Amino acid sequence: MADFAPQPVDPGRVDVDVGAGTLRPEGPTLVRRLSDLEGLFRDQDAWRRDVEDGDRVVYQVSSSRVPEEPRELPQSITTILPGTCGGELYMTKGHQHPDPQGEIYLGLAGTGGLLLHDGKRTEWVDMAAGVVGYIPPGWAHRSVNTGNEPYRFLAVYPGSAGHDYGWVVEHGMGSRVMRTDAGHRLVAWDG
Ligand SMILES: [Fe+2]
Repeated sequence: MADFAPQPVDPGRVDVDVGAGTLRPEGPTLVRRLSDLEGLFRDQDAWRRDVEDGDRVVYQVSSSRVPEEPRELPQSITTILPGTCGGELYMTKGHQHPDPQGEIYLGLAGTGGLLLHDGKRTEWVDMAAGVVGYIPPGWAHRSVNTGNEPYRFLAVYPGSAGHDYGWVVEHGMGSRVMRTDAGHRLVAWDG
């Protein structure tokens, strides 16, 4: 006899609404504004000004109903709006999985990038619709919108992986991604 508990979600179909950035059946949605990204942008004076000047939404995460539980594979769609704060491109907070496990991101719309850092090395994956970015176990990851339209991707990750946002605050991501006339460039982390 198998010793695992019955699965809490029945097999079924999940519809991906690429235009709306949602999954159906729909689970919880999370909205991150500039004020939620305290201490993450390099230019803290610019960040304070932008928070006082409207506190714009930076990104939204819409989940399916698959729970974050061991052996499950939850899915979510993240939409990062275009924009900069102090010249740094809008991005997710970034996190490390406390239980190191892999994850995949599938680009759905717009252009962006996947920044990965393992504490020593930093990697960058250009992302667009149809591209899968692979996050190996042990690599912290952050997504960045490098374009002028919303950048949207589907994430599929192990339900027991967890999310440690403090790791990025403590260790950084190795590089920051800045807006340039030509698009974007990575600059070395300087705190
Ligand atoms: Fe993750």
